[in-house]
Amino acid sequence: MLAQAAAEMLDWRGSGMGVMEMSHRGREFDEIFARTELRLRELLAVPAEFKILFMQGGAIAENAIVPMNLSRGGVTDHVVTGLWSIKTRQEALRYGEAHVVASNEADGAANHTTLPAPATWRLSANASYVHVCSNETINGVEMHELPDLRALGCDAPLVMDCSSHIGSRPIEWTRVGLAYAGAQKNIGPSGLTLVFVREDLLGHALPFCPSAFDYAVVAANGSMYNTPPTYSIYIAGLVFEWMAAQGGVAALEQRNIEKRRCCTTQSMARPSTPTASRARPARA
Ligand SMILES: Cc1ncc(COP(=O)(O)O)c(C=O)c1O
Repeated sequence: MLAQAAAEMLDWRGSGMGVMEMSHRGREFDEIFARTELRLRELLAVPAEFKILFMQGGAIAENAIVPMNLSRGGVTDHVVTGLWSIKTRQEALRYGEAHVVASNEADGAANHTTLPAPATWRLSANASYVHVCSNETINGVEMHELPDLRALGCDAPLVMDCSSHIGSRPIEWTRVGLAYAGAQKNIGPSGLTLVFVREDLLGHALPFCPSAFDYAVVAANGSMYNTPPTYSIYIAGLVFEWMAAQGGVAALEQRNIEKRRCCTTQSMARPSTPTASRARPARA
């Protein structure tokens, strides 16, 4: 993948230009972008009613961009399971009432190590969305299954930060309204943020939301309202080709499960390590 990028650095497929030199509106980059988006849609089986947005700012910027687009200035619900979901809720407080509906803060000796069962979440009747971090990178808590909000009697869309395990397993899209991920963990270089948003959630940005962060504007312009991070998108495209060649996301998930089994077995052999004390290994 990187060898291919190196080989193509000065001249992308006979175009006489490297990707960094291309106009994001030119024919060559159009081709790279279209293929990258298509591959991503295939790999994660993203349904047609979801737009895929290629944005910038990382997951931390999304902590502000999501409430600016979805909160309508009202109530948002937050499941707090570690450092990243704490930061998400803190940012959401700038835009409205951000309720903590469940938290694992008081987990006994080691904080943030378990997942509050969805049945115990105190969901608000009027929340515009429910936010979860599906893999708390630092605290090491992963949701192995996404909550079914409808089964909990909640109509609000689920919003998830899946930055640190995107691409490591399939996503249950029927349970999701919006998912976002910074690219730099599993997808490619930093600078690219992927946003998957259900079309019916577009068009409700708060008046002060910058146009470049208004999902409806970004979607209407095919992620080209402003210049997207072209080189990061190109490398992400190469990573998607590699993932497809490995057999796709389901095959990678199996491989990750094997790795996890192997790591757990090894750490169990040394019970004094912190990993061994975790109820569930978090990173795939
Ligand atoms: C789950 C999660 N959310 C948010 C972030 C922060 O992302 P960024 O630095 O891209 O804003 C990270 C780590 O980098 C993360 O692992």
